[in-house]
Amino acid sequence: MKLIVENDYEGLSKRASQILIKEIQKDPEIVLGLPTGSTPLGLYRKLIESYQRGEIDFTHVKTFNLDEYVGLEKYDPRSYNHYMNTMLFNHINMKPENIHIPNGKATNLESYCEEYNEDIERAGGIDVQVLGIGTEGHIGFNEPDDELNVGTSVIKLAPSTINDNAKYFKSTGEVPERAITMGLGSILKAKKIILLANGESKIEVIDRLLNRNVVTTQLPASFLLLHPDVTIIIDEEVYEGCR
Ligand code: PGA
Repeated sequence: MKLIVENDYEGLSKRASQILIKEIQKDPEIVLGLPTGSTPLGLYRKLIESYQRGEIDFTHVKTFNLDEYVGLEKYDPRSYNHYMNTMLFNHINMKPENIHIPNGKATNLESYCEEYNEDIERAGGIDVQVLGIGTEGHIGFNEPDDELNVGTSVIKLAPSTINDNAKYFKSTGEVPERAITMGLGSILKAKKIILLANGESKIEVIDRLLNRNVVTTQLPASFLLLHPDVTIIIDEEVYEGCR
């Protein structure tokens, strides 16, 4: 595992974008795994700027998003579908058919999850997976539990996740209780993984991840310790907090 410490969020976003820009330039048909949340917003801004400068081309890039709330329509401003369009896809030249975001309104969720897995396999798997991390250690929406799912599945959100994400809804009660998430298997099969974490709220979880050196389903991100090519980029605040 490679640990990179940047001064602040701007530096972290820049460093993550430099890695991704290089990977996209090296392989214009790259398959990217993408997260939502507040953490990757700076990275997405920098990718858009890079695209506008003509440094990268998304014509043949494929993307798979990690997760989506069950029950939200695609155009719902709180959906991750809407987030991805407004924060990234509307500003770059991705082909719509190359964008994959779980459909939270699928009628048969179980078979839909199977299809999502198959789509990832058909694309040849994820080349570079970008991740944020939940305060309780989730990646995607794989929440701490006795067992973790290998493939894409429907999960029940942890109370801490509902709390963390309530800021995007009118009230905590409005946050959907379930979500579709890519499983640990799909994430760990990615050739390269980049995890981003910044700010005080992530100190405790990064401390557990980096300093305990154990793998446990109670800290889903800990499975990343088994992967041969993981880069964790944190800011100085997280670094100082977990020294
Ligand atoms: P955040 O969420 O980027 O909004 O902190 C991260 C996550 O839940 O994975």
